Amino acid sequence: MFSTRLTIDPRFAIGDISRRLFGSFVEHLGRCVYDGLYEPGHPLADEQGFRTDVIDLVRELGVTTIRYPGGNFVSGFRWEDSVGPRERRPRRLEPAWHSTETNQVGLHEFSDWAERVGAEVMLAVNLGTRGMPEALELLEYANIPAGTARSDQRAANGRTEPFDIRMWCLGNEMDGPWQLGYLTPDAYGTKATQTARALRQVDPDLELVVCGSSNSQMPEFGEWERVVLGHAYDDVDFISCHAYYQETGGDTQAFLASAVNMDRFIDTVVATADHVGAVRGSSKKMAVSFDEWNVWYQDRYENVDKISGIGNWPVAPRLLEDQYSVVDAVVVGNLLISLLKHADRVKAASIAQLVNVIAPIMTEPGGPAWRQTIFFPFATTSRLARGRALDVRLESPTYGTSQYGEVPLVDAVATHDATDATTSVFLVNRSLGDEAEVVIDVSALGGLTVASAQTLYDEDLGAANTLDDQERVALRQTPTCELAHGRLRLVLPPVSWTAVELSPVAL
Ligand code: AHR
Repeated sequence: MFSTRLTIDPRFAIGDISRRLFGSFVEHLGRCVYDGLYEPGHPLADEQGFRTDVIDLVRELGVTTIRYPGGNFVSGFRWEDSVGPRERRPRRLEPAWHSTETNQVGLHEFSDWAERVGAEVMLAVNLGTRGMPEALELLEYANIPAGTARSDQRAANGRTEPFDIRMWCLGNEMDGPWQLGYLTPDAYGTKATQTARALRQVDPDLELVVCGSSNSQMPEFGEWERVVLGHAYDDVDFISCHAYYQETGGDTQAFLASAVNMDRFIDTVVATADHVGAVRGSSKKMAVSFDEWNVWYQDRYENVDKISGIGNWPVAPRLLEDQYSVVDAVVVGNLLISLLKHADRVKAASIAQLVNVIAPIMTEPGGPAWRQTIFFPFATTSRLARGRALDVRLESPTYGTSQYGEVPLVDAVATHDATDATTSVFLVNRSLGDEAEVVIDVSALGGLTVASAQTLYDEDLGAANTLDDQERVALRQTPTCELAHGRLRLVLPPVSWTAVELSPVAL
């Protein structure tokens, strides 16, 4: 066992936590929409064809925003194909994932569904095969109350009230050579800025997200952000970050430190944005929208799942259906800690994705829906992390990793909600073999009681929830959690994620 010390004090505030930090992502990809959240023939489907068991799980997951409809998909998407009478909607080639898009779910159906799960829609526009004129038409269709061609078309299609979508993404991963219509930073910066200005001429209060690099390994990472923001700084509110992590070469120790990469990624993007702001003499602070993040075993997609063939365009194929282990869930819990540690600048984030495709929720056609291991840290963090994020003045021993150098064995962040004086602390033990004794000074918080203490761990690090064993992995009571004299003492099992909720003692 090794020892770690933390201090929780509401004065060590990082920043206010945006509820949008707990967003997710639904792309027309594989079985995320079709045979995922939408399956008309399923015994639990509602009158619109949406699975009510999936709706219940999405609510339990606690997602606040949902980015839609892509991803790579959006760069070839014609939004008008997906509205109007369903029987007249065209089937289209979908080149991003080599599939057929039936357009049976579109803006109307998805917005209704999002309302039912209690999430805000964050809409991405196509800046790949299309541009500003089509984005303007979509905005007119979505947000103008009435009296124009597109707004009247929306009403004729059954929705009198506007959708009133606030957050708009200006394309997706426009630096990636895999993206339909990818661009140089200069060309994208110009196109995104022209689109942003046009959209804001119609609706000045829109919140706009400009594309950052597709990931921090892109050859132009840093330079892309500098050039794009050089164009768009005054016209957008967020710059996006995307990051996916996977265990490679059996190096679990390095994989467990993935959040170190996320920390550095965010710091670099913020520093670059601040540099652009400084050069312009601007007092504005650009926010980060970390609108794709998760564990994703991308190698499997490239080598096994990828679809090809001129005559082979399946509907809703099984793609990117990663089965998540205990280690994956600990990494996801740690990535959430990283987002909270940057709550001052990361004001939106989306776990990618939501159902079946690299997802916390899995479904079987005609069968059950269940929670993957990564469901648990996400749902718990979304429920407990409220108010302000707090730095915990962590003192932890370190270990060496092949990818990130020396990193702390324990990582942690706390949150404090001044409205009801509740405090939560989220921790990971990255050690493969040793328990971590964690002593937390909570004396600054006054009289407290432990409302809950839950840990995700398992002797079998590869354990997963599957169709045949849907509840194999779940949260457990934290093995040791003692609170006395202003000190909270925890013992964290090796490779574990923990959340402790502290409430004020009633006087
Ligand atoms: O989430 C899967 C894919 O990953 C998205 O379509 C794309 O934006 C990213 O590369």
